[in-house]
Amino acid sequence: MKFFVDTANLAQIREANDLGILDGVTTNPSLMAKEGIVGQQNILDHYVEICNIMDGDVSAEVISTDFEGIKREGLILADLHKNIVVKVPMIKEGVKAIKFFSDNGIKTNCTLVFSAGQAILAAKAGATYLSPFIGRVDDTGWDGLQLIGQIVEIYRNYGFQTEVLAASIRNSNHIIKCAELGADVVTCPLSSILGLFKHPLTDSGLEQFLSDHKKANG
Ligand code: E4P
Repeated sequence: MKFFVDTANLAQIREANDLGILDGVTTNPSLMAKEGIVGQQNILDHYVEICNIMDGDVSAEVISTDFEGIKREGLILADLHKNIVVKVPMIKEGVKAIKFFSDNGIKTNCTLVFSAGQAILAAKAGATYLSPFIGRVDDTGWDGLQLIGQIVEIYRNYGFQTEVLAASIRNSNHIIKCAELGADVVTCPLSSILGLFKHPLTDSGLEQFLSDHKKANG
């Protein structure tokens, strides 16, 4: 399973990358705005900066909603760096654009996915990644993890190459459950990745080992 970090914060991307287990980064317009990255050129420069920190796929989202606009933006984004993945919303024009990018060898991440039907459409268009939003599904009283399982099963039934990238992850347990369900990728806040380290028996066991070593060795 690939680990992506879901942030535009450079310090967090560096910290995740330094762990040695990071495979990629996802961003979205809200995450960029949260970091105060505004203006077309600053946004493009920020994507390049992220690509220079870590060697893995970096999702950069378009803000157009018509085919020509998505295509124009996507081509500019893809031209920035070899690791850029064009992130496209799950709308009719987006699916058409995903097909165009796929036919032209440009990687895509189909975002804002909330149903199995949407997942089928994106896979048929040749999306590289599909991002179902687990946490946001949970927020509505539905089951985000069940959606991941359903999509994984459908993709396996037909041998679709699109990778299931579980997004909107809210905690460490979401990551473990996604691994059980066979998601190809999880994109998570750094805190959810760091949460995987935690176990009280690890902490107490280490304390005991170090204390016994000190007693025996002075
Ligand atoms: C996916 O790529 C999105 O950036 C992200 O996971 C959305 O998460 P949120 O629901 O926490 O905003």
